[in-house]
Amino acid sequence: MSVIISSHSPNAVTRAVDVLNSGGLVGLPTETVYGLAARADNDEAVAKIYVAKGRPSGHPLILHISDISELHRYAVNIPREALTLAQQCWPGPLTLLLHKSAEVSHLVTGGRDTVAIRVPANDCALSIIDLCGHAVAAPSANVFGHVSPSTAQHVHDDLGDRVDLIVDDGNCSIGVESTIVDFTASHPQLLRPGGFPVEDIESIIGGKVHEPSGDARASGMLASHYSPDCRVVLVQDMDEALALQTLTPHSRILEHSDNYPLYAASLYAQMRQADIDKMAVIIAVLPLSTGLGSAIRDRLTKASFL
Ligand code: TXA
Ligand code: MG
Repeated sequence: MSVIISSHSPNAVTRAVDVLNSGGLVGLPTETVYGLAARADNDEAVAKIYVAKGRPSGHPLILHISDISELHRYAVNIPREALTLAQQCWPGPLTLLLHKSAEVSHLVTGGRDTVAIRVPANDCALSIIDLCGHAVAAPSANVFGHVSPSTAQHVHDDLGDRVDLIVDDGNCSIGVESTIVDFTASHPQLLRPGGFPVEDIESIIGGKVHEPSGDARASGMLASHYSPDCRVVLVQDMDEALALQTLTPHSRILEHSDNYPLYAASLYAQMRQADIDKMAVIIAVLPLSTGLGSAIRDRLTKASFL
């Protein structure tokens, strides 16, 4: 069985670093969702991430660094707008896609010459990465295609003893994954809406973030992803939700709020709970596409594909 250790335990950071430095996997708390971390310079350890998740090797991982000063170690030819964003938004739920440096293994990038990088806003994660002395590669700590984990227990439920140590820092404050912006094309492109609202990114860079074109480069862009076992049916408002619920056995209306940060924070835990409670159908009221509403809509829409 994997071990869960409280982030408040005095030796949580050193134990996590010991596991990472000996080639193991750590369930790492972040402000978005829990990650499944390995030292990014240890190919054998990174390979274990793909096996533990059942993730195809062509799906690249995000590098997590503890400080913006580390950015130039892993990325080259960084556009000015990307640097401005990093300065203003990190630590925070924003991932930048950049050209990789020679130091980044192709195992992390799924064979590409680009690398996704972020600084997570979680003090415990930052201490672990800092003491490790190297970036860690960390996808969300769920089985591939399943709902991301927003608690340490979720990580344990999905991965069991495939993760060596889980650092429990409570509920993730944001609850949906980071926003990913690609700065390797001629215009910035949004690969995944997430915890950092795209409107805020546009106002910081003083320009538009475009819809992605070309190949669907992020697995988060696959049509079906982030799914619970039960069916997810989308509706526009509460009246429609109530009408549908009376017609649908074993259905539950997802608790939602016009306060989108609140909605996002409980989204994945609610999906997982519906499976535990053996619900057949979740009825979800779609938020508007503003602020965190865009990320919630995206995850609900993907979860609703059959
Ligand atoms: O909030 C988050 O971003 C969380 C926490 C743990 O940091 N991580 C996360 O990782 O959501 P993951 O692996 O579940 O999603 C990362 C996404 C995937 O869709 C992956 O394809 C994309 O980032 N990605 C990573 N590197 C990429 C690259 N070089 N090119 C294109 N997409 C990339
Ligand atoms: Mg994921």
